Amino acid sequence: MAAAAPDKFVQWFRAAAPYIHAFRGRTFVIAFGGEVMSEARFVGLNHDLNLLAALGVRLVVVHGARAQIDAKLKEVGHKTSYVRGLRVTDDITLTIAKEASGRLRVEIEALLSMGLPNSPMAGADIRVSSGNFVTAKPIGILDGVDLQHTGEVRKIDVAAIEDRLKFGELVLLSPLGYSATGEIFNVALESVAEAVAVALKAEKLIFMMDKAGVTNKRGNLLRELTPLQASKLLNNKETFLDGDARFYLPCAVRACEQSVKRAHLISRHNDGALLQELFTHQGVGTMIAPDSVEKLRDAKISDIGGILSLIEPLEADGTLVKRGRDLLEMEISRFAVLDHDGMIIGCAALYPFAEEHAAELACLVVHPEFRGRDAGERMLEAMEQRARRKRFKKLFVLTARAEHWFIEHGFVEVDVEELPVQKREMYNYQRRSVILTKKL
Ligand SMILES: CC(C)(COP(=O)(O)OP(=O)(O)OC[C@H]1O[C@@H](n2cnc3c(N)ncnc32)[C@H](O)[C@@H]1OP(=O)(O)O)[C@@H](O)C(=O)NCCC(=O)NCCS
Repeated sequence: MAAAAPDKFVQWFRAAAPYIHAFRGRTFVIAFGGEVMSEARFVGLNHDLNLLAALGVRLVVVHGARAQIDAKLKEVGHKTSYVRGLRVTDDITLTIAKEASGRLRVEIEALLSMGLPNSPMAGADIRVSSGNFVTAKPIGILDGVDLQHTGEVRKIDVAAIEDRLKFGELVLLSPLGYSATGEIFNVALESVAEAVAVALKAEKLIFMMDKAGVTNKRGNLLRELTPLQASKLLNNKETFLDGDARFYLPCAVRACEQSVKRAHLISRHNDGALLQELFTHQGVGTMIAPDSVEKLRDAKISDIGGILSLIEPLEADGTLVKRGRDLLEMEISRFAVLDHDGMIIGCAALYPFAEEHAAELACLVVHPEFRGRDAGERMLEAMEQRARRKRFKKLFVLTARAEHWFIEHGFVEVDVEELPVQKREMYNYQRRSVILTKKL
């Protein structure tokens, strides 16, 4: 192993800590088609599920069976028809769907039971729970065609699933649902995943698919979409969504429009995509995140009044250096503001020092009434992202009162010599601000 590798590992592992904290006790619904099994991709995914379970994530796994059903139908020479992308499930197809789901379920359960020493599954103790958690009803007649045993979700037994999750079990759902009359319905895996994620108010709904994520017309990966942007994409006749995205994206959007915090569409071909999407800033697929009432945006001249009312009391008590309206007007392009439904509740500025590939983070302020709700942290993260996009290698900050806050957010104290030359020359020794930096 190269000498730098252990350092990188330690750095990486430490950087994962905030995610580990944030994910513990949260519910993730992870959905994938039967191809994950037929292409033998479940082994890697299994390791990642095991890791997430060990980190205290509450897991609901939804598998599909389309690939297996299609293969069997071909084998027996039985043709099925589709209406608006939905398979018409006749008696023969239902029998095949039941067999395929049953087989997949036990195969997945078997793999989740692995615990071989010297493997990532060593010591794994995943208890799997499956059952009649999904109640379905027939879709009925669509465009004049009876879809027969093709169903849609009517109800999710939230209490029963919550019970299993509470005991640390992984809940495994098949693309089938049962009715009050004892019938079985063939339900699309994405519909089951959407319904269960919404019913459980899941933190995340994750679809593993054939492509790296959702792409635009030029084939570029769209890393982040709001539900509105994704809906526009879906309604645009010129949009060509190929592969699984056309099934999964509408469900991801609807889930986020309801109670799901984030939906992710990632590649099933990329071993470890799940971990990369969850534990890195940039991710590897497409994330759908609902609009928030709070937006961090570039400051405009019309924001000066709002910024001044935030910073003037802090200038008066010596927390911040006095700027004044004129300077603020000149430097407004350096500022970003946190806009809460039209009210400026936070601000921060970034001053570049191009030669040193560094930027000063200044004037990070949260309105007193909005403090202690992570607004400061979110602004800091956003400013870090902006700095990274501009290829700065480090941030520094001079603070009189918030030293500990910055240290808790990854900054370290340094000597005045560490400041970019220009800044060093202006350093006010009387103010005795603490100088802190953070590598980006
Ligand atoms: C520093 C500041 C931006 C943090 O904003 P925030 O939205 O309250 O931050 P968060 O919600 O992410 O963090 C809140 C936590 O930080 C702690 N905290 C807040 N200010 C702190 C400080 N000055 N020193 C140490 N801890 C601090 C809070 O007690 C809270 O901890 P808790 O969760 O354990 O209760 C805000 O306190 C502020 O505007 N301060 C005045 C301006 C300033 O000093 N800016 C820095 C110089 S540029």
